Amino acid sequence: MLDVRLTEAPAHVRHGSNIGQPLTRRDGVLKVTGKAPFAADHHPPNMLFAVLAVSSIARGRVTFLDVAAAKNHPGVVEVMTPAHKPALAEDPDAKTNPFMFRLDLLQSDQVRYANQPIAVVVAETLEAATEGATLLAPNYELLAPRVGLDAGESFVPPAVGVGNPAVVEHGDVEVGLAAAAKTIDATYETPPQYHNPMEPHATVATWDGDKLSIDTPTQGLALAQGRIAGLFGIPPENIHIRSPFLGGGFGSTGFITGPQILGIMAARLVNRPVKLVLRREQMYGPVGHRSPTRQHLRIGVDETGLLTALEHHTKTVSSTFDDFFEPAADASHTLYASPAIRTMHKAVRVDSGTPMFMRAPGEATGSIALESAIDEMAWACGMEPLYFRIRNYAEVEPISGKPFSSKALRDCYARGAECFGWARRPLAPRQMRDNAGLLVGWGMGTATFPALMFQGTARAVVRADGGGVMETGAHDMGQGAWTALAQIAADGLGLPLDRVEFRSGRSDLPDAGIAGGSAHTATAGQAIHNAGAAVIAKLADLATRDERSRLFGAGNAGVTARDGRLFRRDDETRSESYADILARAGLAEVEASGTGAANPAAQAEYAMHAHGAVFAEVKVDPDLGQIRVTRMIGAFAAGRIINPKLVRSQLLGGMIWGMSFALHEEAVVDRRSGRVMNANLAEYQVPVNADVPSMDVLTVEEDDPHVNALGIKGVGEIGITGSAGAIANALWHATGVRVRRFPIRIRDLVTVP
Ligand code: MOS
Repeated sequence: MLDVRLTEAPAHVRHGSNIGQPLTRRDGVLKVTGKAPFAADHHPPNMLFAVLAVSSIARGRVTFLDVAAAKNHPGVVEVMTPAHKPALAEDPDAKTNPFMFRLDLLQSDQVRYANQPIAVVVAETLEAATEGATLLAPNYELLAPRVGLDAGESFVPPAVGVGNPAVVEHGDVEVGLAAAAKTIDATYETPPQYHNPMEPHATVATWDGDKLSIDTPTQGLALAQGRIAGLFGIPPENIHIRSPFLGGGFGSTGFITGPQILGIMAARLVNRPVKLVLRREQMYGPVGHRSPTRQHLRIGVDETGLLTALEHHTKTVSSTFDDFFEPAADASHTLYASPAIRTMHKAVRVDSGTPMFMRAPGEATGSIALESAIDEMAWACGMEPLYFRIRNYAEVEPISGKPFSSKALRDCYARGAECFGWARRPLAPRQMRDNAGLLVGWGMGTATFPALMFQGTARAVVRADGGGVMETGAHDMGQGAWTALAQIAADGLGLPLDRVEFRSGRSDLPDAGIAGGSAHTATAGQAIHNAGAAVIAKLADLATRDERSRLFGAGNAGVTARDGRLFRRDDETRSESYADILARAGLAEVEASGTGAANPAAQAEYAMHAHGAVFAEVKVDPDLGQIRVTRMIGAFAAGRIINPKLVRSQLLGGMIWGMSFALHEEAVVDRRSGRVMNANLAEYQVPVNADVPSMDVLTVEEDDPHVNALGIKGVGEIGITGSAGAIANALWHATGVRVRRFPIRIRDLVTVP
């Protein structure tokens, strides 16, 4: 079994605290030299290649597949179809909890969306499997697809996102609007987006009796293990998943997807190892996406510019066979104080794959509308938009009434504004030009994301040679989990980083919890911290109870761990190495476990959010409407920063995603066929280096003792929030045009008089 060994670079040999150090990624050398194993890099002996055949229609039925033609093609070994497939122990359409997503595993001839898997061709070579899939030449019974936000009747689900109510009412919005001195009523639209991680969903599956070994990217090893166990009717411990690295994920590998399971089914059918890798265009359907939204905001303020009402209604889409969608209106729950807040979600069922969590689900889309509307309202009031925000931001979470650290948000506003030079901004639009005559605009947006935690476990070992091991099945999808979590492990074990073996990325390790919701470092980090503390307590126990130890009688509380030694707190000249303690006790090692989870008592008392403020400068050609983002500065407060270099990269990445949201990304769905017309990375536009301006990230120090013992809030998603709104507001400031449909295009600006 392959165990990933990370390169030891001199920078990692630190003595004393590792937490807070800007260490370079420990997986960096492996990745840039092509040695980091991704799922599709695996080729077990005797392996076959599987290729998906997917539907070209969005709704209807497959009436014929030319299985004989495919099977006759040289090299083709097997064709898996609804009529010919291994039995499953569970209906893929069964759903026993809201986070169990229905999968398309060839359960029928029905087609529910374009690019739905309809067959799998298995062959000796990739070429033969690909040709075989083409030869299937399906016939369909075609029904007119339902496409877009106006496709039909809407429904209100019982819960949205991570289980929040679909409708939330606090105070009386109608009373607040009636009493308002000024109101605005505006509708914003955001498009469907697809996750597009660099690494496609891939499975390399090997069965050995009823034991299964798989390489596949997942943000949730234990969840994936449980889902596969249920579908195949085998115990979870029979399933070994390796997912040391993910080439992105963004939510699309949070829950195991249909194509990943189809690879496992194919391996079962042919009784040989099978590799199945999605082609890029096949990722536009069966592996999730962000649903489009239409968000209707109504805001009222009194004569002094204080909010009297805030209403945020979201209409979005879900699939015809499952319920998830983008919970955009939830973004209005936390940021602005208003005596009346009402949020509502509804969705129409369309013939698309089921939407899925996608980076900052809800907050990314919702904050665009909210931050645009707040900016519009500030201008309507003749108020400076930063001042307007400060005037209205919540000192306590408005709906729950629970306090959070609003000082952190104040600091983000102040530091970001100063660094950007915001004070020089003219209030009115179209006031600034550069030397080339381009219109210049400045805008801002507030960033916020909840500080979530899931449940995770870690196992710590200190060995007789004085080294340590920390094990947790964490997921590195590019954010740097191997590095940040190893830093926490080293400090938790009281060892230099190069004396700690950090094991991760496999399902046979303790469950680290899902890498999602920006909660991975907090959850797995807390588990690691607690496991380290537990194993040190055992060492301390061995030493302080032993008359032969220099630490005898110190008691657990009287000992600190550092550099592979325990020291008496009251007299640091008295110390003993871990190796000596274990040698005297005649032990090869000591081990202990720790868990990480939210503290319900603290959660009941405090609202927990990370905050930030993003400032953007854009330039617009007044004749051609061409848009450039020329500067972005984000200031963020996200609790304890484990690794400033990684955190900076995460926040920059988030801000670039925000820019992508404002100006680039959009999946265009053909209304007649229900197919995504730009299902590739050439026409599905994302920013490239040439689009990305000078950017900077400031992290505002924040010591939040309530979120968890390490004070970690998470940084994976907050950078997206606020950023797109900041750019939209800057575009208005440059041109005087409010564009409320995203992404903003040249043609939205050239119609300007
Ligand atoms: Mo995420 S959408 O929490 O990977």
